[in-house]
Amino acid sequence: MVKIAPSLLSADFTCLKDEINKIETAQWIHYDVMDGHFVPNISFGHSILNDVSKITDMYLDVHLMISEPAKYIDNFIASKASLIVFHYEAVVKEEVDNLIDYIKNQHVDVGISIKPNTPVEEILPFLSKLDLVLVMSVEPGFGGQEFNPIALDKISTLAKLKKDHQYHYLIEVDGGINEITAKQCRQAGADVLVAGSYIFNSDDYAKAIESLK
Ligand code: DX5
Ligand code: ZN
Repeated sequence: MVKIAPSLLSADFTCLKDEINKIETAQWIHYDVMDGHFVPNISFGHSILNDVSKITDMYLDVHLMISEPAKYIDNFIASKASLIVFHYEAVVKEEVDNLIDYIKNQHVDVGISIKPNTPVEEILPFLSKLDLVLVMSVEPGFGGQEFNPIALDKISTLAKLKKDHQYHYLIEVDGGINEITAKQCRQAGADVLVAGSYIFNSDDYAKAIESLK
């Protein structure tokens, strides 16, 4: 069964506790960190994650859309991230392996994310070590954008590689997920669907979550 990861980016922060209570059936929280440098937008950092960790047992999926992620990893680990996903494009190639090992050694799950124009081939050398691969189906930076179907081929490729090599990573997709695109992603082989505006703009979050499964 596919997992749903509601993106807090679209939540109402004036009542964050209530918002989190209303998405509990999803089991995962997707936490989008933006620095105004790697992406043209700023969101929130590790201290709010730490607050969130105190009020929920949900799996905390931290998506770092930031330059120089290595500098900030410790803060997010201390703030109880369950999974840290950094962007392949944000790190020099020679550092990718070290960063993966560093996160794994702290007993936190690790993932790599690729933007729509980055081919899966670029991350082939790292796949065996990853707990998750995040395929962006929009340019990172904003919620509420339209799904780019370029992601579907990448999901299929990752699903085939996973099967052929018996890799253990989950395939996650992020951006423009709704009832229609969720189905396309499930069929392509996605394991985790991130959804922000589709869930938080709905009248009934639990129902919206169910409709993506
Ligand atoms: C975009 C973020 C997404 C965003 C998805 O850069 O990584 O997680 O919140 O929002 P929707 O589901 O509205 O496209
Ligand atoms: Zn995200």
